[in-house]
Parts: sequence; structure tokens; C-alpha cells
Amino acid sequence: MPPGTVGVIGCGLMGAGIAQVAATAGFDVVVREVDDALLKKGLGALDASLARAVEKGKLAADARDQARRRLRGTTALADLAGCDVVVEAIVENLEAKRALFRELDRIVKPGALLASNTSSLSVTEMAAATSRPERFVGLHFFNPVPLMPLVEIVRGLRTGEPAVVEARAFAAALGKKAIVAPDAPGFIVNRLLIPYLLEAIRAFEAGLASREDIDEGMRLGCGHPMGPLTLLDFVGLDTTLWIAEIMFREFGDPRFAAPPLLRRMVAAGHLGKKSGRGFYEYGGQKESR
Ligand code: CAA
Ligand code: NAD
Repeated sequence: MPPGTVGVIGCGLMGAGIAQVAATAGFDVVVREVDDALLKKGLGALDASLARAVEKGKLAADARDQARRRLRGTTALADLAGCDVVVEAIVENLEAKRALFRELDRIVKPGALLASNTSSLSVTEMAAATSRPERFVGLHFFNPVPLMPLVEIVRGLRTGEPAVVEARAFAAALGKKAIVAPDAPGFIVNRLLIPYLLEAIRAFEAGLASREDIDEGMRLGCGHPMGPLTLLDFVGLDTTLWIAEIMFREFGDPRFAAPPLLRRMVAAGHLGKKSGRGFYEYGGQKESR
């Protein structure tokens, strides 16, 4: 896929990672946030990740500098008009995503590939908010985007074959391994991962074991790089609650029901690493329970 311009909407946990990977891969990148403060925060996290890549010997300093020169932030959606690919990574809420794509549809040039990084929402329903559903795919990256090699390409019911071919080329240009998933809630990975993560919360909520033992159990017993409660803090408890609500609504299956503890932690603002407090403390705050 020839380098072109990639638009990324949302510069949070995922948007910052997607923007970093695209810029490092040689694309010009425009990343949009809702306001200057959030844009500054997101670009700060992106710069810290680039610095870590250099520090760890994964990226040469001049390659980092070139990538950073290719990347610019904005709060104006109109700045994405000339993008060849637009990847949305905003809050996991269907109405918010549909409203955004409705607006994007009027701005972004014809022929652009439109994509959502959604974890669980219907790509078909998002695409229906645009006049170009055949140009719409799911591009589900994994956290942290610079490190996780997988991207799920999700085919909506009206996604055209050319869009899937272009999505595969884009994923390859980013150095990612792609698997193609149907537009089913949670696609492939989250269909399996979310019940596991929710069950870890239920086990903790029921007093089965300490948070540390639950995590150590899966790390040392099953070779997981992170235990489930650590991973939940890493993903974000707000995002996890959104995903659980969406999948429970679609399947009506108790495996996807949000545990009461998860709901209360989100209500208390204990969102995990991104808020400084989840199942664990980050930066010296009291633990949540
Ligand atoms: N850029 C590039 N490379 C980096 C880097 C950066 N910013 N930071 C670190 N690295 C490199 C390091 O050099 C190291 O490379 P080597 O192993 O070759 O030396 C490697 O990445 C690991 O780095 P660290 O040792 O610093 O980190 P770690 O060992 O603690 O691993 C982790 C961190 C990769 C995140 C690991 O803990 C992990 O894989 N956790 C599980 C993550 C996961 O499950 N993600 C999926 C979440 S679910 C999801 O995303 C879907 C959804 O919809 C919710
Ligand atoms: P996040 O809360 O860290 O970031 C979302 C960002 O979007 C926020 O900074 C917010 O200000 C911004 N935003 C909201 N509305 C916007 C708009 N209209 N225009 C521009 N920016 C806007 O969330 P996240 O964890 O990055 O998740 C984003 C998406 O990626 C969700 O759909 C989520 O399900 C999905 N996802 C998350 C993970 C994960 O591990 N967190 C993994 C894969 C996919």
C-alpha cells in the first residue's frame, strides 16, 4: 500500500498507539482529539512511547524524529479531509461513533477507507451511518498497539472486497498480522477474552483469592504476560464495562454480564491505569477495596 495520509480520531490509549505505529511505518498522520488539553495529553503519551522504543533499542533516534515530523495533532475534523485511511478510536459507544462517522462522511474525500477500532460494536451499524458502507471496515488493534502484532479486520455486511484488500495491505504496511473476523459481537478475540476477564472480577468479588494471587495464578500457571486484573487495569475498566454491556445486550448470556463490582469501580472513577487507580494503585493512591 503506497504511503499516504492516515487520520486517527481519538488520541487516548489506542488512538495514540495507532498514530505512533502509522507514523513510524512511514505514513503522514493527522490525529484528532476533542480539545487541546486532551490532544496535548495524548501526544505526550505517544512521545513517551516513542522514547521508550528508542531506549529499548526498537527504534533508531532519527527514525523516531522522522516519524514525529510526519505526525500532527488537531482538534478540527476538517483537517482529515484528505486522508486515505481514517481510523476511529473514540469511546466504545455506538451513538457517539455513528454521529462521528455521519460527520466524517461529509468531510473525508471519496475513496478513503473508513475504519473503527471498536472492541465489540457492530461495524455494519456504524457503516450504515455513512453513504459509503462498502468502504467501511473494522480495524481492531490490540493494546499496546506498538507491541501487539495482531489486528482484526472486521467485515461489515456491506463491506466491499476492495476495502478488505486495502485493509490487509494497510495492516501489512504497519507490520501487523491480520485475521479477518465476521461482524459478530467481540469478533474473535474479545468473544473469548471478555468472559475470562469478567470471570476474574467475579472470582475476586466472591473473595476466592487476593488480586495478587489471581494474577500470579494466570501469569505463573498459564504463562500470561499479565494477570487478568492487571490487564483489566491496562485496558481500562470503563472500556471493559462498555464492552460487557454491549456483548450482554447482544447475546443475553450471563458470561458477558457486567459484575456489580466493575460497575461500582467505574462509577467511582477507578478506571485502572489511566485514572491512577483500578484493582491496583498507580502512582501512590489507595487500593479500590
Ligand atoms: N515501543 C516499542 N517497543 C517497546 C516499547 C515501545 N513503546 N516498550 C517496550 N518495548 C519492547 C521492549 O523492548 C521489549 O522487547 P524485547 O522483548 O524484544 O526485549 C518488549 O517490547 C516488552 O517490553 P517490556 O519488557 O518493557 O514490557 P513487558 O515485558 O512488561 O511487556 C506487554 C509489556 C507487552 C504489554 C505485556 O505485559 C503484555 O503482552 N501484556 C498483555 C497485553 C494484552 O493482553 N493486550 C490485549 C488487551 S485486550 C485488547 O487490546 C482488545 C480490546 O478490545 C480490549
Ligand atoms: P480512551 O478513553 O483511552 O480514549 C478515547 C479518546 O477518544 C479520549 O481521549 C476522548 O477524548 C476521545 N474522543 C471522544 N470523542 C471524540 C471525538 N468525537 N473526536 C475525537 N476524539 C474523541 O479509550 P481507548 O481505550 O483508547 O478506546 C478507544 C476505542 O478503542 C474504543 O472503541 C475501545 O473499545 C477500543 N479498544 C480499546 C482497547 C483497550 O485496551 N483500551 C483495545 C482495543 C480496542
